[in-house]
Amino acid sequence: MKTRWYKNAVVYQVYPFSFMDANNDGWGDIEGIISKLDYIRDLGATAIWFSPLYKSPDYDYGYDVSDYRAIDEKFGTMEDFDRLLKECHDRDLKVIMDMVLNHTSTEHPWFKEAVSSPDSPYRNHYIIRKGRHKDGKLLPPSNWESSFTGPAWERIEGSDDFYLHLFCREQADLNWENPDVRKEIIDILNFWLDKGVDGFRFDVFNMFSKVYPIRDGSRKESFQKGAQYFVDGPRMHEFLKELNDKSFSRYDCFTVGESYRPSEEAAREYVREENGELDAIFNFGHLESDNIGGMKFFPKPFDLLRFKQGFFDPQRAAYRGGWNTLVLENHDNPRCVNRFSIDVKKYRYEAATMLAAVMYMGFGTPFIYMGQEAGLTNCDFLNMDELMDPVSHFVYDLMTASHMPKKMAFRFIRYGARDHSRVPMAWDDSANGGFNQGHKPWQCVNPLYKEINVKKDMADERSVYRFYQKLLRIRKDYEAAVFGETQEYDHENRKIIAYSRTWQDRQLFVCANFSRRPVQYRLPEIVKEYRILLNNYDTFDDDGTSGGKGSAVKLKPYQAVVLETGCTGA
Ligand code: GLC
Repeated sequence: MKTRWYKNAVVYQVYPFSFMDANNDGWGDIEGIISKLDYIRDLGATAIWFSPLYKSPDYDYGYDVSDYRAIDEKFGTMEDFDRLLKECHDRDLKVIMDMVLNHTSTEHPWFKEAVSSPDSPYRNHYIIRKGRHKDGKLLPPSNWESSFTGPAWERIEGSDDFYLHLFCREQADLNWENPDVRKEIIDILNFWLDKGVDGFRFDVFNMFSKVYPIRDGSRKESFQKGAQYFVDGPRMHEFLKELNDKSFSRYDCFTVGESYRPSEEAAREYVREENGELDAIFNFGHLESDNIGGMKFFPKPFDLLRFKQGFFDPQRAAYRGGWNTLVLENHDNPRCVNRFSIDVKKYRYEAATMLAAVMYMGFGTPFIYMGQEAGLTNCDFLNMDELMDPVSHFVYDLMTASHMPKKMAFRFIRYGARDHSRVPMAWDDSANGGFNQGHKPWQCVNPLYKEINVKKDMADERSVYRFYQKLLRIRKDYEAAVFGETQEYDHENRKIIAYSRTWQDRQLFVCANFSRRPVQYRLPEIVKEYRILLNNYDTFDDDGTSGGKGSAVKLKPYQAVVLETGCTGA
């Protein structure tokens, strides 16, 4: 029976490499995670999504899986995982596993078998095609580009064959057309569900189905050549329905898919309850509001209208019959307080809390990335050697090969690098920010840890963590915050974001100043009498005309308030 528990859930994302290193070997581990479960629960989270814990050679830090049924040694053992699962459940925390099924590691036994001989039955587990001969040269089977730059095909040594990899060359795309592959995948999902996990986050799921026969793409159709042939492919819905039928529908679990620029129509279809595919997907449209076309490394001044569109559209699309997710950060994005043209030095607390209030009062399940709840900031990397993510290097190399000055290229990389959120958690001001007992971590620590860390935040009068606690409490106490319909106001306002959530006869109203200057704002008519549920400043400057109705309010820099309308009181 599906209880759809995820609708009331709050998910906390743990990136295991950098969360907590209990055995002091420089890598985060399961033991470390267990030691912090109370912290996660006390925040108000009710579920944890673990970025991959599986065995992996780590070319893409866990997103290149070489054994889907084994825990990587650096994190612990399967017994440790079983204990983690139990410890989570003992605290009423659900467990969501990351499932990376668009591709496997090239060190996965299937791939090794596949390339061992042209007759191997495992050959058909992957997308392998003959190269094209042109002017005496051997070219890849198509001009498709990897999401991580460069060609999406790699030659198999000693042959004219190539395999497809839409990400690193160490991540070979699986051939979902092959029913044996789908059967293996369903077995893997059921293996984890039988263990008792409560759901999955599917990595880049809407690339599972490709258009065949394979043909060249064009830049006109999409920035990444070939994308029109591998995003939202023709069999996507069929594949998801099969997984649902043979796996998820048999368990009380939650499935959320990380989509890669889905079309609006596909996005709606993926999450409609009656379709029996996924429960929700991630939408990142709002995170394109401070960069050029979603390219993280190319900043542009923040555009609140773009943010609003990316934030409200998926809520509207999923309301009635579907579900949504709410995201500010993850392991693929820089810290939110360093984005959106925010002056982080001056307004870190105000911006961290404003962003949280705006985002998590919306319609959908909140996802909070580790450290975000304490307002942790980007890392002031000194040079490229400090960046561990291969993508930072691929893009830097591409920029410098196209004659961009190195300094400028580094500035761009530092703006959008995934590395910012992947440095060890800053728990306190002891060595390595309390991540471990002093062993050099796999990735440099953020030198700001002495100033900005969880312990200090929690002790501060203006604590981001405590603000999150209060905010998440509202989701527990008010059904309108979970189920209410979202109505946006004053869309054209470039400084203020405002919306209501209405459920039965209850209504919440959220408004926030997204700028560093005080802004006057006239509350919409629907906000008659109200009660302040949450405010990231001590005061709310309402001119008081007619008890709030149509009042002109003055919002301080990055001020956010959550009001319950239709009632009075403090
Ligand atoms: C997803 C993951 C990212 C990974 C990529 C390839 O976008 O979130 O970290 O690099 O897929 O698996």
